[in-house]
Amino acid sequence: MTLPTHVKIVEVGPRDGLQNEAQVVPTTVKIELIERLAEAGLRAIEATAFVSPKWVPQMADNAAVMQGIRRHPAAVYPVLTPNLQGFDAAIQAGATEVAIFGAASESFSRKNINCSIAESLKRFEPVVSAASALEIPVRGYVSCVVGCPYEGAVAPDQAAAVARTLFEMGCYEVSLGDTIGVGTPASIARLIEACARQIPIGKLAGHYHDTYGMAIANIHASLQLGVAVFDSSIAGLGGCPYARGASGNVATEDVVYLLDGLGIETGIDLAKLAAIGDWISTALNRPNGAKAGRALCARTAA
Ligand code: HMG
Ligand code: MG
Repeated sequence: MTLPTHVKIVEVGPRDGLQNEAQVVPTTVKIELIERLAEAGLRAIEATAFVSPKWVPQMADNAAVMQGIRRHPAAVYPVLTPNLQGFDAAIQAGATEVAIFGAASESFSRKNINCSIAESLKRFEPVVSAASALEIPVRGYVSCVVGCPYEGAVAPDQAAAVARTLFEMGCYEVSLGDTIGVGTPASIARLIEACARQIPIGKLAGHYHDTYGMAIANIHASLQLGVAVFDSSIAGLGGCPYARGASGNVATEDVVYLLDGLGIETGIDLAKLAAIGDWISTALNRPNGAKAGRALCARTAA
């Protein structure tokens, strides 16, 4: 299979990257981050989550973030909405795209959104209907597509079944979340093949956390199977509050470096990205998790 010529990157740093930060991140910093990411060429930036502030306090300023950002005319700013209450609040705050998030593992579903997989899918139906009535695109996530922090290995067909339900419900794209980053090119390939038997490969996205350092290899394996959308997080920020020990998403800088090297077009300015990764890591007082980002910044400073 020839590699795609263009890849879409969905930047999830402001949501997935920050949701697990213990310290309060000022809303102004979140807004600056989102605006700078758009300025570097990112055209899909997951901005925040309309979830319960009791469950994820870091996202409590969701409306202020959505109302505070200066929107780039070519960019979209999807937000997570676990239920109709979250959807309504998101729309009120000016969201124009939302994402629903289910799981391939029962235990993770209960820990993350307090219901079974079947209940979650029922709960998503009215969200998708309400979104459809307003012509709001809905993205779908499946978490724990390879492994679950509570149940261990997850069968590819189990993940593919949830992906298919979300797609048939009306999600325009389904993002496959290796929430705890245990996948390898072999297990990710089995997953993609199982999903592609259920829904068109062009409707799949890869969302790989980098806990075991496999995420870049997993993206390369997915590219070879025809996946052309990947989620990533600036400076490799993040982790999931309901998946202890899981590290951040693959760093956006590392993904863009890989894609540039493969001659695959993204429209993203890597030098600007590296500077943003350096800035946000300093602002959060944490090490920059992007290897390419660190190398580029060191070269600029030399
Ligand atoms: P629940 O407690 O079962 O909800 O939580 P409930 O419907 O029983 O309501 C209880 C209270 O929550 C009520 O308030 C509701 O108003 C409030 P009270 O009367 O007690 O004051 N509530 C809400 N408040 C704000 N926004 C809402 C909302 N809904 C109810 N939308 C719920 C169920 C889904 C709300 C909760 O479990 C939750 O918010 N979970 C979100 C967890 C989360 O955000 N996890 C991280 C994102 S997923 C992820 O990171 C994985 C991903 O990156 C892919 C991957 O890596 O795999 C996407
Ligand atoms: Mg994630």
